Amino acid sequence: MAQQLPYGRVTVDSETQLIALLGYPVKHSASPPFQNAALEALGINAIYLAFAVPPDSFVQAFAGLIALGAIGANVTVPHKEAAFAACEECSPEARVIEAVNTIRFREGRSFGYNTDAWGIAAALKEEGIAFRKASVVVLGAGGAARAIVAQAILDGAAAVTIVNRTVERAERLLTQVLENCRKLEPHNQPHPYPRCQVIGYDDVRAALAGADILINATSVGLKEDDHLPFDAGWIHQQTFVYDTIYNPPQTRLLIEAKKSGCAKTVNGLTMLLYQGAKAFEIWFNRPAPVELMRNSLIQPRLMRTGKRR
Ligand SMILES: NC(=O)c1ccc[n+]([C@@H]2O[C@H](COP(=O)([O-])OP(=O)(O)OC[C@H]3O[C@@H](n4cnc5c(N)ncnc54)[C@H](OP(=O)(O)O)[C@@H]3O)[C@@H](O)[C@H]2O)c1
Repeated sequence: MAQQLPYGRVTVDSETQLIALLGYPVKHSASPPFQNAALEALGINAIYLAFAVPPDSFVQAFAGLIALGAIGANVTVPHKEAAFAACEECSPEARVIEAVNTIRFREGRSFGYNTDAWGIAAALKEEGIAFRKASVVVLGAGGAARAIVAQAILDGAAAVTIVNRTVERAERLLTQVLENCRKLEPHNQPHPYPRCQVIGYDDVRAALAGADILINATSVGLKEDDHLPFDAGWIHQQTFVYDTIYNPPQTRLLIEAKKSGCAKTVNGLTMLLYQGAKAFEIWFNRPAPVELMRNSLIQPRLMRTGKRR
């Protein structure tokens, strides 16, 4: 009897199916190694390839993938809004966010999803935390913040505060997300809607004092010498602090929150992992090998930082 190997092996041949990652730039993406590791582990004859597609070529690339019979795609900056516009049908969270990061092509039709929103919820769940009934403070009003705010509202948070340097941008985000929620089918709408507010950093102290969950969705922390736009001593010690940034693994926010006595501080690697795992499930309609994907993400990172496991 042939020995059963723990993992399948995939040979690229004339039947290999394609999953594309479209972004611009895209060469720093962590997705190809961990998606291909999952495909290989499950013996699926498919390959995940990244393509740098300039903004004015997105529509052609999208049509090209349909013509090639690709299974699906991931879409990253700056194409998520264009992908939303291009997909024929979109899931409720994608319609609220107005952005798509995962596409499934089936019989010439395109279905769009936003698994960033799923990723943050799953990352919290892994820590035993949920948006439901929580008081949530989100720092930032860009694409990542939009997905997080939408998920917090859809999941039944009690209160959502958006803090942004440019307050008008956060006001636009909140207005659009709430308007889009109200356009959803009744069974997809939040019950009840949370208390929502938008503030600048001048007013952040009171919001932080009552936060169950604080999430950084700004780019502050990408550089190790970045300074926080507020005093981390204002964060309540019971607050769960999540930074969507995963490189560096210990951001300024996580370091200072820990110093101020916060017991639970987690970086964005799990959001990245779970958005990818959910995308895998959408493409293949089967559970993703999450632990293997996690190891494929962590090990190259530890090698780059010179640490041992
Ligand atoms: N873990 C994951 O899976 C995952 C997924 C997506 C994104 N992310 C992370 O999320 C972060 C945001 O990404 P994005 O795509 O949403 O970016 P984005 O659309 O460019 O938004 C950047 C946000 O950061 C704020 N900001 C920038 N510099 C600031 C400063 N010096 N002080 C205060 N606020 C500042 C901006 O405020 P203004 O509006 O005032 O300019 C804006 O709200 C990035 O760090 C990214 O790495 C993680």
